[in-house]
Amino acid sequence: MTDTAANPLRAGLRLERTPTPSVLVIFGASGDLTKRKLLPALWALCEDRSLPPGFSVVGIARTPMSHEQFRQQLRDTTAADKTVDPSVLDNFLQGLYYHSGSIDDPNMYISLKALLEQIDKERGTEGNRAFYCSTSPSFFPKIVEQLGRAGLVTPNATGSGWTRIVVEKPFGRDLASAKELNQTVLKVFDEKQVYRIDHYLGKETVQNLLVLRFANTIWETNWNRQYIDNVQITVAESLGVEQRGPYYEEAGLVRDMIANHMLQLLTLVAMEPPVAFDADAVRDEKVKVLRAVRPFSDGRLKTDMVRGQYAPGFIDAGKVAGYRQEAKVSPTSNTESYAAVKFFIDNWRWEDVPFFLRSGKRLPKRVSEIAIQFKPVPHRLFQDSTADVLAIRIQPDEGMTLQFDAKVPGQSMRERPVLMDFRYGTSFDVAPADAYERLLLDVLLGDSTLFARRDEVEAAWTIIDPILRYWNSTPAQEFPNYDAGTWGPDAADDLLGGQHRRWRRP
Ligand code: BG6
Repeated sequence: MTDTAANPLRAGLRLERTPTPSVLVIFGASGDLTKRKLLPALWALCEDRSLPPGFSVVGIARTPMSHEQFRQQLRDTTAADKTVDPSVLDNFLQGLYYHSGSIDDPNMYISLKALLEQIDKERGTEGNRAFYCSTSPSFFPKIVEQLGRAGLVTPNATGSGWTRIVVEKPFGRDLASAKELNQTVLKVFDEKQVYRIDHYLGKETVQNLLVLRFANTIWETNWNRQYIDNVQITVAESLGVEQRGPYYEEAGLVRDMIANHMLQLLTLVAMEPPVAFDADAVRDEKVKVLRAVRPFSDGRLKTDMVRGQYAPGFIDAGKVAGYRQEAKVSPTSNTESYAAVKFFIDNWRWEDVPFFLRSGKRLPKRVSEIAIQFKPVPHRLFQDSTADVLAIRIQPDEGMTLQFDAKVPGQSMRERPVLMDFRYGTSFDVAPADAYERLLLDVLLGDSTLFARRDEVEAAWTIIDPILRYWNSTPAQEFPNYDAGTWGPDAADDLLGGQHRRWRRP
C-alpha cells in the first residue's frame, strides 16, 4: 500500500505507474462534472492502459438510473470517436455500476457496502476504494460522516485495502467553513487519505512550471527580485456564468478562481526548490509561500484590488447578456465576475515584487497565461530596448515564449522584441491530456503531490478572507462596470501603477 509518494526515488519511477485494482465511487454521478470530465478522463486512462485490471466505478445519485443508462452517458460521449475500439469500451463499461439513493440515508451506505463487497469478489478489487465527492459542497460533510458510520473507511495503516477520499472544490467558502470541513473530514480520514482536488494542478503546463524552474539551470540566478520586475497571472474566460447562476451568486470570482486555481499558480511560480518531488516536500514549500503573502491592510483593500461585473456586450461578434440578466441571477446582484488583485510575497526572494492576478468571465477570449516580466537593463545602451518577458501559456496553445530584444538587420543599431517559442503540440506531437486524467490516476496511485493539503487550503483562505469581508461590507456602486467582450474595468489598468507596467494582451 502506498499512501504517500514520500520516496524521492519515485521521481524516476513516475512514468511507469499502475495502480492496484480498485473501485472509484462517485457521489454526484448524475451531475455535469461526472459526465463531462470524470467518465471521459477514466475512459482515456483505460485507452492508455493506465487503469488496473478489474477497475470499477460506482456512480451514486438520487436520480433513478439503471447501470445501463449510466453506461450510456459514456457511450454517448465516445460515439463520434472513430478510434474507439468497441471491445475495449464494452469491457470498460462492464465495470461501471450505478447506485441510486439519498446521501442522507444511512441505508444507502449499507447497500453500497454490499455492492462494493460484491464487486470485490467479482472483479478482484481487494477492498481498495476511492470516494469522490462531486456533489454540491453542502453534502460533503454528510457523505464523510455517513461513510465513517457505515464502516466504509479502512484506517490508513491497516494492510487490508486502502480507502481515499477526493473532495472537489470549493473547499469551504471562507476560512471558518474550510476549517470546519477539514475537522469533519479528519475525524473520519487520515490526512494522507484526503485528496482536495484543484484541477489546475493537473494541467500539463502547470506541472511543467515545476520542470521549467527546477530542471533547468538558466532560471536559477534570475528568478528573484533582482531581475524580475513583476509577475502577471491571467485566467480569462469568454464564457459567462452559463447555467451556474445560483452557484456563482454565492461564490463570485474571487472564491471561484483566485482562492484556489490562481493562488496555486502563484505558489508554483514563487516557491523555493523542494528537496524532493514528493507530496510533503512540494506542499511544504507551497505553504511557505502562502504564509509569506503580505496580509491586506485596510488601506490595501481599497487600493490593491479591483472588482468588476459584466454588462451586455459582444463576444466573437455575437451579442451576449450582462451578468445581471443571466438566468437565476439577481437583477441587482453585487457579485463580481472579474477581479484583479496585487499580491506581495514578503520573503528574501520576492520582497516588493508585485504579483498581479486577474481573472474574469466574458473577457474577449479564453486564455490563461503567466507572464514573468523582467527588469529593464540597468544602463540603456540602445534607445529602443525593452524588458524581456517569459510568457507561459497554460491554455490554449500550451507552450512558452521568451520575448527579448534583437538587432534589426541594417546599418543602424536599432532593436526590437523577437520571440523564442516552444509549443507543446509541435515539440511533442501530442495534445496535452485533460487535467482530470492525471489527477484521477494519482488518486488511484496514492500520490497526493498535486492535491492541496489541509494547511495549504487554510493558508489560502487566510489571505482571501479580508477581501471577501471588505467587498461584502461595501456593495459595488459602479456595477456593471465592463462590457462583455472587453478586458475588464478600466480601474484594473491603474492597479499596475507606474508608466512602465501594463497588462499584457495575451
Ligand atoms: C472551475 C470554475 O473551477 O474552473 C469555473 O468553477 C471555471 O467557473 C473553470 O470556468 C475554469 O477551468 P478551465 O480548466 O476551463 O480553465
